[in-house]
Amino acid sequence: MRLALRFVLPLLLALTLLAYLSVFLADKFTRTWFVRDLNIRTRFAAIAMEQGLVPLIKHSANEEIRSVMNRVTLDERLYAAALCDAHSNMIYRTVHFPEQIVCRAFQLQDKPAHSVINLPSGPVHVSAAHLHDGETPLATLIFVHDLSFAVRRSGEARFYVFLFFLLTGGIVSLITVAIARWSWRGWMQNMRTIIQERGEVQHPHLRSMPEMLPLLKDLRSLITDIESDRRLQEAGTVIWNPETLKDILVKHLSGENILVVANREPYIHNRRGDDIEVQIPASGVVTALEPVMKACSGTWIAHGSGSADREVVDAQDRVAVPPGEPLYNLRRVWLTEEEENGYYYGFANEGIWPLCHIAHTRPVFRSTDWEFYNRANRRFADAVIREAQTKTPVILVQDYHFAVLPALIRKQIPNAVIITFWHIPWPNPEAFGICPWRREILEGLLGSTILGFHTRLHTTNFIETVDRFLECRIDRSHATVSFQGELTSVKSYPISIAWPPPHAQDAPGNQPCRSAVIKRHNLSETSLIAVGVERLDYTKGILERFLAVERMLDIHPQWRGQFTMIQIAAPSRSKLDAYRQFRAHAFAEAERINNKFGELANPPILVLERHHSPAEVLEYLRAANVCLVTSLHDGMNLVAKEFVGARSDLGGVLILSMFAGASRELPEALIVNPYNIDQCAQAIDFALQMPLAEQNRRMQSMREQIQQFNVYRWAGRMLIDAAQVRKKEQLSREISEFRLQED
Ligand code: G6P
Repeated sequence: MRLALRFVLPLLLALTLLAYLSVFLADKFTRTWFVRDLNIRTRFAAIAMEQGLVPLIKHSANEEIRSVMNRVTLDERLYAAALCDAHSNMIYRTVHFPEQIVCRAFQLQDKPAHSVINLPSGPVHVSAAHLHDGETPLATLIFVHDLSFAVRRSGEARFYVFLFFLLTGGIVSLITVAIARWSWRGWMQNMRTIIQERGEVQHPHLRSMPEMLPLLKDLRSLITDIESDRRLQEAGTVIWNPETLKDILVKHLSGENILVVANREPYIHNRRGDDIEVQIPASGVVTALEPVMKACSGTWIAHGSGSADREVVDAQDRVAVPPGEPLYNLRRVWLTEEEENGYYYGFANEGIWPLCHIAHTRPVFRSTDWEFYNRANRRFADAVIREAQTKTPVILVQDYHFAVLPALIRKQIPNAVIITFWHIPWPNPEAFGICPWRREILEGLLGSTILGFHTRLHTTNFIETVDRFLECRIDRSHATVSFQGELTSVKSYPISIAWPPPHAQDAPGNQPCRSAVIKRHNLSETSLIAVGVERLDYTKGILERFLAVERMLDIHPQWRGQFTMIQIAAPSRSKLDAYRQFRAHAFAEAERINNKFGELANPPILVLERHHSPAEVLEYLRAANVCLVTSLHDGMNLVAKEFVGARSDLGGVLILSMFAGASRELPEALIVNPYNIDQCAQAIDFALQMPLAEQNRRMQSMREQIQQFNVYRWAGRMLIDAAQVRKKEQLSREISEFRLQED
């Protein structure tokens, strides 16, 4: 109705105006025509009467003149007539001749004249014609024509013109509204289909309407914004915990068992003499995934790397974990030493790891390593296929060890939901482009349903890389890549820790922890302790941190003997040259710095090189005044979040590298550039002096952030997105089956 009014009202208005204009013009023209007509008639009448009247005038035959004049006025349109002599005296006038018209107004020497006069009875047209006797002007005939019939006619004409416009207006409005409704409906239908398809497939209508593309792009990005706002609002209201995650699995993924593929196993069984020891490795991936597996159960497929791993598995190479309170299965995949060297040490850790971390260590690419990498990925793919219990399993592929695995799984289980998460940074296309197998890696990853990174920057870098090296269709507004008919949604999902933080509730408070640490390392009671918790890895900025400690003690000597930096250093990848050299360098630097400041109550740097259990790490995190996370480049860095999780007392200061993904979420930390040694030194000094109230305020805010954006939300959001993709795929399968039937 509103649409009709919007169209019809202006149209009617315009037509009315047009009608008025037409009527006005028609009126003007009819009158002009009538007047011209009457003038001609007057002239003709005068010519016709001249012969008869001239002799009568000359002989003053008044009776005959009267009769001629009265006869003339028998014409119904001629209202009255008069005859004037050469001296402007009225010779005769018929009965209705208006008195106000006088002969003088029509002097003989004047040209024949005419005018329109309004009498009380209506308008009249007065015209005069001169009569001549030979060449001599003799008299003037004045005719008064009734103009009311002209007015009547123009009134009628006005009415018909108006009626014509009204009818035309009505018909045009009806046709306009009908056409508008019809095309609007069609347009809306097309828009709906196109929007629903969200750019995966190009709707045929789009090919014929290229001008719609910019509008569509805007529309789609608007919808994405609205969706992500809705998601954020949801995230704000949902409390993410193990139950929420389980509910999502049941509600959205029909309770599917989850299969996780991650190279590092969450529990490593090692032989120590007669005993078997269980070790929990230092790995961000393990920290994040374990709570998810405990919540969802399912199977974690990993490389069996422990010396006693084979001794504890069943016939299917499975062992239930966690030991003592089994909640899910660990399925071990065995690799020969040669395979491990090529796949894990070689291609994954000498190739991809330095390639993706901008830490200035040169990547090494060997074709034999690449072959072993592919072989190991195939081995894991076989395990996935054997573990999958349905045709639509949900598979979480973790990290850079499995770049080609998603496509291998996709080939075998086409309807699997494959969620791949890349836990390390993704570099820009130039940096990634030096990899000789860049194409194969990208193609492998695009076998995933969802590909996740920690930050938007890494997501954008990946999409740019795909754009540079593959022939595919990219929808940037929805961050999807369509390659060989498969759609991959590429998004950022910042990883986090479980909340409440595991082990934190039952562990001793920060005072007992502090006392234990002070006692263990013979530190003074008033010690100011900084901690770093890392694998001995060149990307973690450990050397830079040591140099910052040295610089801090140089410029702030009051801290000497009171300050100690404790570095927990988990041995890592020590078969590799780069790691061995780095280790040696780190130890040498720590020793040099300690020697430089001589015998002090507290040594500036303590390096604890061994595996520490999560409970031991927690003790150090609680004992510390400051936690140092100075990675040169890091996907997220969960140690930063673990420190915040550990500090229920709201004490302690976090110094955090701007090159770690965590810095995007924790701006309350002291954010530093680890390459800027002076800045890091100042940050340590600033942290040591930070008032307790300020520490509490910052810590409280960081804890709220992590509590809300915890690891259950990380996994939950990926599962929800995966369920949505699955629903869409199912729908499009049903539609294509239906189309086939129709054909
Ligand atoms: C990083 C990687 C993980 C890896 C961890 C420990 O966090 O992203 O995938 O598990 O380091 O490394 P490792 O080589 O000992 O498994």
